[in-house]
Amino acid sequence: MTQNLADTSRPAADIAHEANVSASRGWWRDAVIYQVYPRSFADSNGDGMGDLPGIRSRLPYLRDLGVDAVWLSPFYASPQADAGYDVADYRAVDPMFGTLLDADALIRDAHELGLRIIVDLVPNHSSDQHEWFQRALREGPESPLRERYHFRAGKGENGELPPNDWESIFGGPAWTRTENPDGTPGDWYLHLFAPEQPDFNWDSPAVADEFRSILRFWLDMGVDGFRIDVAHGLVKAPGLPDIGGADQLKLLGNDVMPFFDQDGVHEIYRSWRGILDEYPGQRIGVAEAWTPTVQRTANYVRPDELHQAFNFQYLGTDWDATALREVIDLSLDSMRPVDAPTTWVLSNHDVTRHATRFANEPGLGTQIRTPGDRSLGLRRARAATLLMLALPGSAYVYQGEELGLPDVTDLPDEVRQDPSFFRQAGQDGYRDGCRVPIPWSDTEAPYGFGPAAGGPSWLPQPAEWAALSVEAQTGDPTSTLELYRSALAVRRSQPDLGAGTDVEWLEAPEGTLAFRRGSFVCTVNTTGEPVRIAAPGRLLLGSTELVVDGGETVLAPDSTGWWAV
Ligand code: GLC
Ligand code: CA
Repeated sequence: MTQNLADTSRPAADIAHEANVSASRGWWRDAVIYQVYPRSFADSNGDGMGDLPGIRSRLPYLRDLGVDAVWLSPFYASPQADAGYDVADYRAVDPMFGTLLDADALIRDAHELGLRIIVDLVPNHSSDQHEWFQRALREGPESPLRERYHFRAGKGENGELPPNDWESIFGGPAWTRTENPDGTPGDWYLHLFAPEQPDFNWDSPAVADEFRSILRFWLDMGVDGFRIDVAHGLVKAPGLPDIGGADQLKLLGNDVMPFFDQDGVHEIYRSWRGILDEYPGQRIGVAEAWTPTVQRTANYVRPDELHQAFNFQYLGTDWDATALREVIDLSLDSMRPVDAPTTWVLSNHDVTRHATRFANEPGLGTQIRTPGDRSLGLRRARAATLLMLALPGSAYVYQGEELGLPDVTDLPDEVRQDPSFFRQAGQDGYRDGCRVPIPWSDTEAPYGFGPAAGGPSWLPQPAEWAALSVEAQTGDPTSTLELYRSALAVRRSQPDLGAGTDVEWLEAPEGTLAFRRGSFVCTVNTTGEPVRIAAPGRLLLGSTELVVDGGETVLAPDSTGWWAV
């Protein structure tokens, strides 16, 4: 048996009931949260760019998929220098995505379908087109608005050198020099990312007040939470001290940097938690926090701070039983003391999709340019997903992974838009490969992404994607889409999945994992060889065909099995 069991239609009454049951524990503790990348999800008006009405029209698909909540990457007014992570107006929808009325309708529809909505908040930096920054430039060095960003005089005889040695994540110096209103060279401003993304100065009370007000604006609109972009970056070490060496990107993740994971950020999240708690219905905050250790990540989800933090250590783990077991234990152990759920994530809009990561040799990082062995990658991706969905805590699914989409590794340079692709020596800028619009139907691009066959899509879709569309996979019990649907349906019907904070490891042959959670057992074979074991129970679901015979089972190469015991 493979994955064909579940009837995925869920009556609204069931959803309401489930919502009540999990609400008593905190709905977010075991929620499956689906990331929509608005540019690439669904385009309602045929301009080649996804939009809010498009997302709204596809909400029933997400309800039927069986996820609990939807996180939307930014759709705010933005010049799109970093695909919307450069916000010019935090209270407006960019016309390319729709209007505030569309956002309101989307939130209402989602709630009616039993789906929660999480929006992206970008508090580390604004767009350089934000009114404050524009005024700060226009009004010159004496402008009181300069205090809301990091403006500094340059070093060197004529201020021609940047104020310190910090490097941008996207490459090059983290400083850009301004021009005074009279045309003379002026002060420099700090941008940890693109020059179009000036960093806010979080010591400024006006900045702190503004974001508390922005939180309230969207909470009043009814959103259920915020994914907080670069949550580890808001506070900089006093005096903005030099780091003392180049190639700083390599230090990220190991060392505490003067611009990341400073202890001062926690005061901000405590203040935000107070606001979230003022609202009914358990509104949540999710930290995108890159820190040197999982223990430091746990600081963001202490009981009076945010609710969840992404588990990037898990995302970065190779398809290897020993490494996976280690990271799972480490993740669970680090969250237990703060009583926060662990989260699990395999893909997002910043990394090569896991079907492609696992298709390549390990150790290549998260920006991969080669397709690798596609069928191997897909087999492992399906197994990795079932493992993720069997773990206690909350899981994140990135749009298109339920279709088994690979990264598009051969996009021509002319169509690329990732700003880091165009800057030297920064984070490898291959993020467009996971941002290609997803296929819904039809045999011709844009495969139902937009309304008209032959219509545009902002990044070109590969010809092979016709076979991977939602329409092509629906009803095919061997498809990855039906695997996700079944897995999410089983997860809902088995309270032991997702809940709790522990796994009980069972003895398992080398290269395999087996763990128990109540009346449920999960087996994983990360090797390329079949492995024979005693069948743990009744097979519920397999990432591929698993044969049970006379009390024994053969764990197929690169497979995961779910068992009732
Ligand atoms: C986060 C976002 C990424 C963006 C960066 C700067 O890491 O996920 O897409 O480029 O922040 O805002
Ligand atoms: Ca559109």
